[in-house]
Amino acid sequence: MQKIIILDFGSQTTQLIGRRVREMDTFCEILPYDKFPHGDPDVIGVILSGSPLSVYAPDAFHPDLSGILGRYPVLGICYGAQYLSWSHGGKVEPVGTREYGRAALKVLEPDCPLFKGFEPDSQVWMSHGDSITAIPEGWRKVASTSSVQYAAFECRRGASDDGAPAWGVQFHPEVYHTLQGKLLLENFVVDICGSRREWTSDSFIESTVAQLRGQLGSDKVVLGLSGGVDSSVAAVLLNKAIGANLICIFVDHGLLRKNEFRDVMRDYEGLGLNVIGVDASERFYRDLAGVSDPEQKRKIIGGDFIKVFDEEASQLKEVKWLAQGTIYPDRIESMNITGKAIKSHHNVGGLPKTMQLQLCEPLKWLFKDEVRAVGRRLGIPEHLIGRHPFPGPGLAVRIIGDVTPEKVRILQEADAIFINALREWKLYDSIWQAGVILLQDRSVGVMGDERTFESAVALRAVTSVDAMTADWADLPYPFLQKVSNDIINQVRGVNRVCYDISSKPPATIEWE
Ligand code: XMP
Repeated sequence: MQKIIILDFGSQTTQLIGRRVREMDTFCEILPYDKFPHGDPDVIGVILSGSPLSVYAPDAFHPDLSGILGRYPVLGICYGAQYLSWSHGGKVEPVGTREYGRAALKVLEPDCPLFKGFEPDSQVWMSHGDSITAIPEGWRKVASTSSVQYAAFECRRGASDDGAPAWGVQFHPEVYHTLQGKLLLENFVVDICGSRREWTSDSFIESTVAQLRGQLGSDKVVLGLSGGVDSSVAAVLLNKAIGANLICIFVDHGLLRKNEFRDVMRDYEGLGLNVIGVDASERFYRDLAGVSDPEQKRKIIGGDFIKVFDEEASQLKEVKWLAQGTIYPDRIESMNITGKAIKSHHNVGGLPKTMQLQLCEPLKWLFKDEVRAVGRRLGIPEHLIGRHPFPGPGLAVRIIGDVTPEKVRILQEADAIFINALREWKLYDSIWQAGVILLQDRSVGVMGDERTFESAVALRAVTSVDAMTADWADLPYPFLQKVSNDIINQVRGVNRVCYDISSKPPATIEWE
């Protein structure tokens, strides 16, 4: 399958470039800046990402681009553009104050295929601390803004240059604030690189099912279901490929939402999956008793989870594979390009060491929106596909302090009222994630004629695109009023409801 290679220089928006390319039904791979797959016949074009570094910094990334430039069409974005120019004798200098925000682009060469269809003064998004102050001799300036002379340029290696074209753009076409960024990327990927647009949910399902059948043959595979989108889609895809040879295990750690274990089991069975449901809540409650430290709680839950899964899986005969719902961002985030630990994902590297199983990750090339699209094509119901993310340790990290079955019950009741109300008021789908936090402190209240001294809960609802940053959701006051009344009236043990109005950063989504 044709592919675009995105060489990553450590920018925060590299994943976004990948998602935009995939939106054009074109497969792409994000690789570290110095890991270009020379010789791969499927490569049709290359994009160089931005970077937090300056090209002239001693520790900046300076890969050898010979073998790429002239051979494949290349688009350098921000640092990628600066590096293209600087490495060929152009000049890059600090701009004094960082240029950040919207700018109007003037395209100076209307025949330039990269800007085909661009409107005059099209809004672009700038985010850079260095600027290109001179491009190499013979290269062509293609677009400017009022403060950036070389907002876009075309690389030329002499009059006789008949190799593949290359451009650099100082702005970020991958972000939504660049209003015609998608058009620019489409011009590059489809018109210039010649993508046949063959990467679709249907083609993914067809090729992955065939590949899984070839890889797994008649082997048995075990998969841990969590109720989340990724593991559910992985399971249904594998079920389509190998049917009853897929055995799923769904562990109830007692920290799921109200009735979630029962409801999700029913959904899974409805999808024809072969699922073993394990109620291990007693064990988790026992091991968590008296533990207040959040990281300690996570460790205990992670450890117990692996033990329970291991015990169940080892009773199955002749299992050779462990399947996981690892998706592409999990792997990219573990790639660690700039040397700064970004986030080590629990699916990558947290495997039970004792299990002598081979790993099967059928979704490892998909972004989250692609997982959802594939899930829909596979017939998974919308309420499973559109579910909010939910942390692996579940309600344990939403109970401040130690976890008891009674606290879990209180939180489940309050959480169910909040989540059901979000659905009833048609607010659920506009929110990235929502839940209730049970606070440790109690407060005084009056109910009827009686003084109460009970727990307070906080409602948390955020909007986000990737959980790296998040804004508190602007929920309507009448909605908050209704939820607050319902929780206080219906949940015994709660007499006060707060709404968390903190964004991430500096707060995080979860309280623990
Ligand atoms: P924070 O609280 O760091 O959360 O802003 C970001 C996202 O990660 C989820 N989260 C977890 N998921 N195990 C998980 O599987 C965990 O220990 C964990 N802690 C936070 C959180 O729900 C949000 O989606």
